Amino acid sequence: AQQVPDILSPEFAADPYPAYRVMRESAPLIWHEATRSYIVSRYEDVERVFKDKAGQFTTENYDWQIEPVHGKTILQLSGREHAVRRALVAPAFRGTDLQEKFLPVIERNSRELIDAFRHTGSADLVTDYATRFPVNVIADMLGLDKADHARFHRWYTAVIAFLGNLSGDPEVTAAGERTRVEFAEYMLPIIRERRENLGDDLLSTLCAAEVDGVRMSDEDIKAFCSLLLAAGGETTDKAIASIFANLLRHPEQLAAVRADRSLIPRAFAETLRYTPPVHMIMRQSATEVTLSGGTIPAGATVTCLIGAANRDPERYRGPDRFDIHRDDLTTTTAFSAAADHLAFALGRHFCVGALLAKAEVEIGVDQLLDAMPDLRLADGFDPAEQGVFTRGPQALPVRFTPVAA
Ligand code: HEM
Repeated sequence: AQQVPDILSPEFAADPYPAYRVMRESAPLIWHEATRSYIVSRYEDVERVFKDKAGQFTTENYDWQIEPVHGKTILQLSGREHAVRRALVAPAFRGTDLQEKFLPVIERNSRELIDAFRHTGSADLVTDYATRFPVNVIADMLGLDKADHARFHRWYTAVIAFLGNLSGDPEVTAAGERTRVEFAEYMLPIIRERRENLGDDLLSTLCAAEVDGVRMSDEDIKAFCSLLLAAGGETTDKAIASIFANLLRHPEQLAAVRADRSLIPRAFAETLRYTPPVHMIMRQSATEVTLSGGTIPAGATVTCLIGAANRDPERYRGPDRFDIHRDDLTTTTAFSAAADHLAFALGRHFCVGALLAKAEVEIGVDQLLDAMPDLRLADGFDPAEQGVFTRGPQALPVRFTPVAA
């Protein structure tokens, strides 16, 4: 049997794709001692765990993975409690709320960031744009003071560090837990005040939402807003950086997208398949479950490798090729469980912000292409991905001929 590289090794962090292949082919279900979990890598198995038609999986693992920084969020809930919470929050991220209230917010925030560098002829698309844009959008959607964006960024960075703290660095853990306290001190008075003065923003929508006589408490809303920082920030930030890294590495596909902007949704879907922002999602088995690779006992933690499943040759032709024209991937980002890749997961916890993320990336790419004619990577720069649970380019220095606003 081939040796399976450890998912916590430096070789894996540098390039996980060879290890994913070995796992799919010869070790589709393995026990991993360091994370005390079973690792699943084939598309059919990851899809089966996410869809969970037989009700065999829970998200109890989030009680220790995310509760210390966010409190009790929608991700930890299951059954009817989850369905009601989902019905309370989901309408704000689609339909007329998205189209009429939030598309202008997305357009404005993207433009503000681009205006800061469009005259200069150079930028780092990660630090100057991607890491700022989605967090600014969420803060603005919530109707928070622009002056507080800097604090949001600080909290966001601490939360991301907490969630990715594989080595258990106590300082990172403490900073994450401190963020929970600081965020609550900041957010709870704003929520109480907003309840008295409802407006047109996302926070007001959450305060007023009611389903079957159930409403969210201040604490519920605070935890949800905290989750949005990470769930909607880090993911979309990596998706934007990755779509540009992928297109810059394939200049003919970049030229095609530049010439025909209706190809942006395809480039987005293919980016999420080829380089998903979230590579790993965990679940807890409620019963014994048999998958293609073997049997998992009840009460076990299961690590689902989205990054491996999205490149399964049983599902995609030439999976290691970035190809926005591929015909085995369409561009539907529906709120049903019928997606074309696993980057947003599937089933009950399917990303509630998928359409918002799609709108952010599509608008961002369109505006950036307009602002950066002859966009190219800085001389000699080859974008490298970093991260294990979440993954994306660490820097993306680009050059372009400056254009006037
Ligand atoms: C859930 C990925 C953008 C909010 C999820 C899950 C994934 C995911 C994989 C499932 C987690 C699980 O099953 O354990 C992504 C990616 C994004 C993105 C790749 C960007 C490209 C967003 C945005 C928002 C958002 C923009 C909102 C502002 C959420 C929430 C959940 C979630 C609230 C929990 C849903 C539930 O438990 O029912 N996302 N996400 N996400 N996402 Fe996203």
